[in-house]
Amino acid sequence: MNTAIVTAIVTGAAQGLGLVTARRLAAAGYRVVLTDLQDVSVQAAAIGADAIGISGDVSNEAFVEDLAARVATDFGGAQVLVNNAGISLIRPAEDTTVDEWQRMMAVNLQGPFLLCRAFGRQMLSAGKGSIVNVASVAGLGGVIHRSAYNTSKHGLVGLTRTLAGEWGGRGVRVNAVCPGWIKTEMDVKDMGSGAYDDTDIVNRVPMARFAMPEDVAEAITFLASDAAAFINGVSLPVDGGWTGDISWDSLRLKTRG
Ligand SMILES: NC(=O)c1ccc[n+]([C@@H]2O[C@H](COP(=O)([O-])OP(=O)(O)OC[C@H]3O[C@@H](n4cnc5c(N)ncnc54)[C@H](O)[C@@H]3O)[C@@H](O)[C@H]2O)c1
Repeated sequence: MNTAIVTAIVTGAAQGLGLVTARRLAAAGYRVVLTDLQDVSVQAAAIGADAIGISGDVSNEAFVEDLAARVATDFGGAQVLVNNAGISLIRPAEDTTVDEWQRMMAVNLQGPFLLCRAFGRQMLSAGKGSIVNVASVAGLGGVIHRSAYNTSKHGLVGLTRTLAGEWGGRGVRVNAVCPGWIKTEMDVKDMGSGAYDDTDIVNRVPMARFAMPEDVAEAITFLASDAAAFINGVSLPVDGGWTGDISWDSLRLKTRG
C-alpha cells in the first residue's frame, strides 16, 4: 500500500468537466480514481498508471460504500473528493413527473451526500481532507424550466455549507464551485432541446463567453489543494460574472462596444 501519494476521487469522470478535472488533478500529482455510470477504464488508462477507473451509480449506497472500502484498502483512503456527477432536466415545473424529480435528487443530491459521508469518514479519521462539490449558478438563483435541477443544486450548496461547519474543526474542508454554462455533452444535449442557444448565454455573461471545462477544473484544483487551506464553506461562482451582474441584456450589450 502506497500512502505517499494523495488520492483524489472524481465522480462523473467519463466525459465533460469530470474528465478534464481528473486530468488536471493528475497533472497536479494526485493519484486519481475516476468513477462514472459509464465505463471509465479507457479514460483512466490514458491518464496514466496511477489512475484507476471504477464504474457505478453515485446514487447507490452499496456502490459508494464499496468504492470507499476499496480505496481505503488499496490506497489508505482518499484525501480529496470531487462530487461532479450530475444530470440535467429542462422541463416546466407543471410537467415534471415525480420519477424525474426523484431521479434528479438521487443523482445530484443523494449521490454527493453518500460520497461525502463515505469519504468524509476516512478524512475525519485522518484529520485532513478536502471536498469540492460541483453545484452551478443554478444553485445560487432560479432558472426557469429547471425546478428539479435548480432545487438539487441549491441543496448541494446547503450540504456544502453544513458539512463545512460540521467537519471544518476536524481538518476537513468542504467547498463548492458554481459554474456558468459550460460547453460539454450536457450542454449539447440541453441546447439540442431548443431551449436556448449560444447567443443567449454569451449575451448574459459579462465576459461574453461560455465557461471552459478548464476554467472550472482550475478552480476545483485550487479549492482541493492546501493553497486553499483557510477556505471552507464557500460556493464559488466560476461564471465570468453572471451571478454578480443583474443588469438587463440590452444594457450589458451596450458595454461591449
Ligand atoms: N455543462 C454545464 O453547462 C454545467 C453548468 C453548471 C454545472 N454543471 C455541472 O457540472 C457537472 C458535470 O457536468 P458536465 O457538463 O460535465 O455533464 P456531462 O453530462 O457531460 O457529464 C456528466 C457525467 O456524469 C455521469 N453520471 C450521470 N449520472 C451518474 C450517476 N448516477 N452515477 C455516476 N455517474 C453519473 C455521466 O455518465 C457523465 O459522464 C454536473 O454536476 C453538472 O450539473 C454543468
